[in-house]
Amino acid sequence: MKASAQAVERVRSTSGRTKHVRPPVVQLTDLGSLPNAIRRQAAELLVEAFNHPQGWPTIEAATREVEEVLRQGFAIAALEDELLLGWIGGLPQYDGRVWELHPLAVRQDRRLRGIGRALVAAFEDEARRRGALTFTLGTDDDGGHTSLSEVDLYDDVPRHIAELADLGNRHPFLFYWRLGYVVTGIMPDANGPGRPDIYMSKPASLARFAGTCADLITPEELQADRRRG
Ligand SMILES: CC(C)(COP(=O)(O)OP(=O)(O)OC[C@H]1O[C@@H](n2cnc3c(N)ncnc32)[C@H](O)[C@@H]1OP(=O)(O)O)[C@@H](O)C(=O)NCCC(=O)NCCS
Repeated sequence: MKASAQAVERVRSTSGRTKHVRPPVVQLTDLGSLPNAIRRQAAELLVEAFNHPQGWPTIEAATREVEEVLRQGFAIAALEDELLLGWIGGLPQYDGRVWELHPLAVRQDRRLRGIGRALVAAFEDEARRRGALTFTLGTDDDGGHTSLSEVDLYDDVPRHIAELADLGNRHPFLFYWRLGYVVTGIMPDANGPGRPDIYMSKPASLARFAGTCADLITPEELQADRRRG
């Protein structure tokens, strides 16, 4: 499991003009085969990136999570030399017909450069290789960031899902949506009263959209693809 991906780097010069610099080479590789120092960075990244009640409060808890993901499934690291830029895990469900994307984190100072998308593509490739028919994930709304928070979801579950909207803080469901995942369920109060978990899934047969950093599928393209059969 090894691949490289190039993230585009644009830097604004002092004159105000945007210039292009050589993109860094990001290596995607099996986290389980990497030294302890890199695994330690993976745990540190969990603590930093999930700095909320549903996250990992200590490096010890995060280290246990890293080891658990490696034991039950697989994990892929995005590396720039010895620096871990991000990582993603995959966990089997339903005897391996479904693979859960968990967790995913990119260093704050390297976000919005295509690393998250490259990691999701690598997760999908590896999960498919292991027999996945469906990719799935849960993305918590534990901070009132979507239209699914603080409402009675039971009054009309399909409508609440159909009308899902971000309330302004760029909840990660938008990121997954851009990569072809759709909402397939919600768990009311998963993170406390009025704070749901949002389940999103994608068929493994949509492989062709996940090959490279540059690939992208919008919800509209996904619908059109389904109509074409
Ligand atoms: C979510 C996360 C992994 C995204 O990683 P990233 O490397 O910044 O994402 P990418 O640069 O690959 O983004 C791919 C596309 O999604 C978009 N995107 C990324 N994060 C987004 C967000 N929060 N809201 C809306 N769109 C987003 C990007 O703009 C890009 O779109 P484009 O192709 O039109 O430019 C990263 O923000 C992160 O680590 N967050 C903290 C941990 C977390 O929330 N993990 C997910 C928990 S379920």
